[in-house]
Amino acid sequence: MNRKLIFAANWKMNKGPSETEDFLKSFLSKIQGQNFGSDIVIAPPFVSLSKLADVLHTRTAGANSPTIEIAAQNCSEHDSGAFTGEISVMMLREFFVHYVILGHSERRSLYGEVDAVINQKILKARDANLKPIFCIGETLAEREAGKLEAVLRTQISGGLHQVSEKDLSEIIIAYEPVWAIGTGVTATSEQAQDAHAFVRSVIADLYGADAAAKIRIQYGGSVKPGNAAELMACPDIDGALIGGAALDAQSFLEIIKNGSAQ
Ligand code: 13P
Repeated sequence: MNRKLIFAANWKMNKGPSETEDFLKSFLSKIQGQNFGSDIVIAPPFVSLSKLADVLHTRTAGANSPTIEIAAQNCSEHDSGAFTGEISVMMLREFFVHYVILGHSERRSLYGEVDAVINQKILKARDANLKPIFCIGETLAEREAGKLEAVLRTQISGGLHQVSEKDLSEIIIAYEPVWAIGTGVTATSEQAQDAHAFVRSVIADLYGADAAAKIRIQYGGSVKPGNAAELMACPDIDGALIGGAALDAQSFLEIIKNGSAQ
């Protein structure tokens, strides 16, 4: 199965509109005329979505320049109403958002998002035709206690409850071991490949072999220019969700370039 790689920058709470503009000026000039054959996505903070959309839509890209798609870092599970501080999927659509990161471990651990809420958000995102980047991953304590597979299976089946096979085909899974996020400790390519193969087997159990062969599974957790090639060479790794190393245009570019060459 030939799955297109997808490289997504999760900027987390970094880069307001002016820093977003600076990044794009540099990044767009670097990728001009280069076609990596991979999908490229940027997820800025909500307040920078408008700047990203404006710059990308007014850019005069050369015929060969890659498309960049826009992701949000979260969305509400509700349509509208008295939910102070929340952003709905329809609001995101106005900013040409195509993807939304859901279930990130920081949302789970710092903001109490449980599988059932993540599931509601995934269903809501699909209602609005957004593509969820559905994050899962174990803590170090869970891994050391031998609970890796149980944790991943629970997160996957909880998050995808009542998600149809058709909707699954528009979902990307991001496997992000919590102990590798922002720590500089990357999972070895063997650890990552084993976890990805397991995730794919759970999807096969839930949706069948065909759906499992098609779904794209990104790896996230201290991905850098120096380890992207080795990770992307693994048969079940279909891209990366990148935090810190995607804040710098040159480093994000090198990850895409090195990873896409695999
Ligand atoms: P780092 O690349 O900074 O480890 O972050 C990974 C991540 O959480 C992406 O969503």
